[in-house]
Amino acid sequence: MPNTLSKHMKYKIVTRSRVGLPVLILGIGCFIGSSCSNTRQQSSDTNTSVKGLKDYYRDYFTMGVAVSPWALKTDEAGLIVDQFNGLTPENAMKMGPIHPKENQYYWKDADSIIAFAKRHNMKVRGHALVWHQQTPDWLFKDAEGKQVSKEVLLQRIKDHITTVVQRYKGSIYAWDVVNEAISDDPKEVYRQSKFYQICGDEFIAKAFEWAHAADPDAVLFYNDYNEINPVKRAKIIAMIKQLQSAGVPIHAVGLQAHWAINEPTEAQLDQTFKDFIELKLPLQITELDISVYSKEHNARDKKVPADADTAYTTEKETLQTIQYGMCFKLFRKYKEHLTGVTFWNISDRHSWLDDFPVRNRKDHPLLFNRNLRPKKPYTAVIDF
Ligand code: GLA
Repeated sequence: MPNTLSKHMKYKIVTRSRVGLPVLILGIGCFIGSSCSNTRQQSSDTNTSVKGLKDYYRDYFTMGVAVSPWALKTDEAGLIVDQFNGLTPENAMKMGPIHPKENQYYWKDADSIIAFAKRHNMKVRGHALVWHQQTPDWLFKDAEGKQVSKEVLLQRIKDHITTVVQRYKGSIYAWDVVNEAISDDPKEVYRQSKFYQICGDEFIAKAFEWAHAADPDAVLFYNDYNEINPVKRAKIIAMIKQLQSAGVPIHAVGLQAHWAINEPTEAQLDQTFKDFIELKLPLQITELDISVYSKEHNARDKKVPADADTAYTTEKETLQTIQYGMCFKLFRKYKEHLTGVTFWNISDRHSWLDDFPVRNRKDHPLLFNRNLRPKKPYTAVIDF
């Protein structure tokens, strides 16, 4: 395994230095006046000889990554083009960012991600049409600030879905239509979100129907986390079966996969796939990252000194390498059912796990380090 890494890294260095001079010249041009982002994109367009994750997994599934529009204007853009063939907007298409006021949409960030994907021939997953977090303030209130009725909320959800899905028809091949509607509490089926409190579970079926009407070609996903927990998994599967038997256009299931060095075990993950396969729907890993800390499910404050050791030690590297290797071994085993794997963020420069579950504790959950070099876990992913 270490051999593969050094071979790969040497390869990257050679390839990068091949384009070094044009980059430097274009870089000066960009400094003088034109756009830096174009420079990066041009340099990466010419950099076709790098073998990336998408190439190793060409016969398996799409390899995607969640991005912000800003990352696409930095040197991370080159890495994305080399390694991935799918994009998910990390935040830009969530309800709050894209629909900040009832009669106002903000398209710029989402559009720029779509434009980047088109330039580089990448597939885009839309994320997410209905989710209880990052919702806009206006959504649940009327003009006097009182909670809206079920009819009003359903109409607002319909308008939102119809407008957003129609705009990106033909540019987005798959949508996370409903995200995280199932409760983590073993005693509850549905999450007690505002959507559920106001509409009951009806909003779920309706959201799929409206998304399907807006783009009949889009693959419509139910997406959720902690699906390795057998109790939550059973609830997700039961809900999907119910939607299927009611004829609701639900086409696929997204398993977020925010995991850690100690979770899931191979047996847990294998059973998770076995159970979801029963639904006879395509599956995707939609938000993969593997924290170097033992899994904790709830947010908490930093404890001193217990949380002070944030270095990426050899021990953390080894455990993460084993865990990434195990996960991808199973992803390959279930390749007939798995149509995509998407990483949640690009490199260890930035991850939402730097602030969750422990605020301001640096994590290292991805395959590329802060200098955008492949880490040892990368070898476990490509070495098969
Ligand atoms: C959930 C959401 C994602 C993202 C992650 C954490 O999994 O689906 O959009 O917000 O949480 O960042």
